[in-house]
Amino acid sequence: MDSDRDEMLPLNNTMKASTFLNTAAIGALLALSVSVTRAADAKENWEKNCASCHGMDGKGKTKAGRLAEVKDFTDPKYQETLVDEKMYQQMKEGLKDQKGKERMKPFKDKLTDDEIKALVQFVRGFKK
Ligand code: HEC
Repeated sequence: MDSDRDEMLPLNNTMKASTFLNTAAIGALLALSVSVTRAADAKENWEKNCASCHGMDGKGKTKAGRLAEVKDFTDPKYQETLVDEKMYQQMKEGLKDQKGKERMKPFKDKLTDDEIKALVQFVRGFKK
């Protein structure tokens, strides 16, 4: 019986090693597909929630964008004035004018923190 088990061991170890390798490979693939999905998500979220005002191209030349007087995200000078943390906060909490009138609604109930972070990067990507 004992010698039987000894003979099984090397085989078992080989199997474990290959299972481990497979798991590692699957893990790597998953990590890859997650980051790909993330990028697509930001674009999708932009199209769904932001493009109505800021435009698909980030220039804000939509009807609502003109009305709300949104600025052009492709303008490098405007990009320089933007601060990632502030953008993040404003997407999360929304934006009001001095009279307290809402200019941009808060997205904290619609988007996760990670999605908002991805959108900050997405907005940065409009810079020319
Ligand atoms: C109802 C129209 C509207 C929608 C929809 C909208 N925004 Fe805005 N957004 C505005 C207005 C208005 C401003 C203020 C422009 C300014 O700074 O003069 C603004 C400002 C911003 C700013 C600049 C904040 C800063 O730091 O000055 C960012 C970044 C931004 N929006 C991102 C987004 C994202 C991302 C979405 C979608 C999740 C979105 N917006 C949806 C109207 C909108």
